[in-house]
Amino acid sequence: MDKVLVAYASKHGATAEIAERIGEALRQAGLAADVLPASRVSDLTPYKAVVLGSAVYIGQWRREAARFLKANEQALAGRPVWLFSSGPTGEGDPVALVQGWRLPKGLQPIADRIRPRDIAVFHGALDAQKMGPIEKWMIKNVKAPLGDFRKWEAITAWAAGIAAALGGHGA
Ligand SMILES: Cc1cc2nc3c(=O)[nH]c(=O)nc-3n(C[C@H](O)[C@H](O)[C@H](O)COP(=O)(O)O)c2cc1C
Repeated sequence: MDKVLVAYASKHGATAEIAERIGEALRQAGLAADVLPASRVSDLTPYKAVVLGSAVYIGQWRREAARFLKANEQALAGRPVWLFSSGPTGEGDPVALVQGWRLPKGLQPIADRIRPRDIAVFHGALDAQKMGPIEKWMIKNVKAPLGDFRKWEAITAWAAGIAAALGGHGA
């Protein structure tokens, strides 16, 4: 029970890179961290704390992340947990870009029981080269700006807060 798990669900890789960055920041603070796709983790026994993040598609978390939350509700409720959503593109406060939304409504009851220490929203990245034709059409429809809007300083600062809460030596 001495490691921190950073679990993520990502379709095109942007959220995976955010999770990797969080893992790096935790390690820099002297904590042992595993960064893994949520679909590959079935046992939380080795972990003293969990960070779980998902890319947002059409207002929903990726299925693997939602499944992880449901399947591990009890174990998560007994550990310090931090959640993040990653999605909005464009400049400005990411929470404002998604009108105050932090988590899909359907997952809120589970989150209420798990009582995460925080739920962050991070900017995402939209790469036209990675999107299929339907995705391109959907993005055009909602006029979401293309590009990489991830703010690494914000992500690292959030991770440093987690490290501090877990007794790390500060990033
Ligand atoms: C088809 C499609 C639908 C999306 N829907 C949303 C959405 O509802 N809300 C949001 O904030 N971002 C939305 N996004 C943006 C993604 O969340 C963003 O590109 C994210 O960084 C993707 O992460 P990934 O590369 O880890 O899959 C959408 C992207 C695509 C391609």
